[in-house]
Amino acid sequence: MKFSVNIDHIATLRNARAEIQPDPVTAALLAEQAGVDGIVVHLREDRRHINDRDLKLLRELITTRLDLEMAATEEIIGIACETLPDLVTLVPEKRQELTTEGGINVIDNFSIIADAIAELHKFRIPVSLFIEPSQEHIEAAIECKTDFIEIHTGIYANCPTEESAFDELERVRQAAKFAKKHGLGVNAGHGLNYKNMKDFRELTDIDEVSIGHAIIARAVLVGLPQAIKDMLNIIKFGF
Ligand code: PXP
Repeated sequence: MKFSVNIDHIATLRNARAEIQPDPVTAALLAEQAGVDGIVVHLREDRRHINDRDLKLLRELITTRLDLEMAATEEIIGIACETLPDLVTLVPEKRQELTTEGGINVIDNFSIIADAIAELHKFRIPVSLFIEPSQEHIEAAIECKTDFIEIHTGIYANCPTEESAFDELERVRQAAKFAKKHGLGVNAGHGLNYKNMKDFRELTDIDEVSIGHAIIARAVLVGLPQAIKDMLNIIKFGF
């Protein structure tokens, strides 16, 4: 299982004081040195954390893979086609939300999503759809001609009991298996942390996890390289 780090909240901290520090680009380079497989950023319509300058510099400087999370809007699709990230992950975006609140509804937004994928494919950008672990959404994602899905793990992460977490993990496992069987790449993310990754790492059909908040929260206290090494140990060895 590969591990990409989402560095949005380095930019959240910077923007809290309209400062230039901490710099998410420096953080990305440090994260690469510490062993991550890729860097994830979400360029939001309101630019509340990552901004256009960050994206441009990241594209120039990082040597792993750049996964650009974004809404399927005309403006941001245009930016993606200029920037050429290694992957675009389409997510739903609401102005008032604190963070992405769930998977994209591919069924209700079919033509918007299919058109966005077709446009990005013209620029040879592979696309992932952030969706719930449900067979009908995966089927719609396949019809949209996506290359990857990213399974929303927020429900798993927020399960109040061990039993409910076990059931939700099983739902994710089945969804990943179904997607894999149909030739999709399978990523996962949202709410994954140092505790719940101990079970999650066992899902063999997940190619890559994208983790942000837990890493940055730990990094503030112990440093980013250490926070990344701690997560790599859990993913690789389970502790
Ligand atoms: N994947 C997607 C699509 C997301 O929107 C986010 C949050 O930005 C993440 C993964 C990472 O979630 P977290 O910050 O909870 O690790």
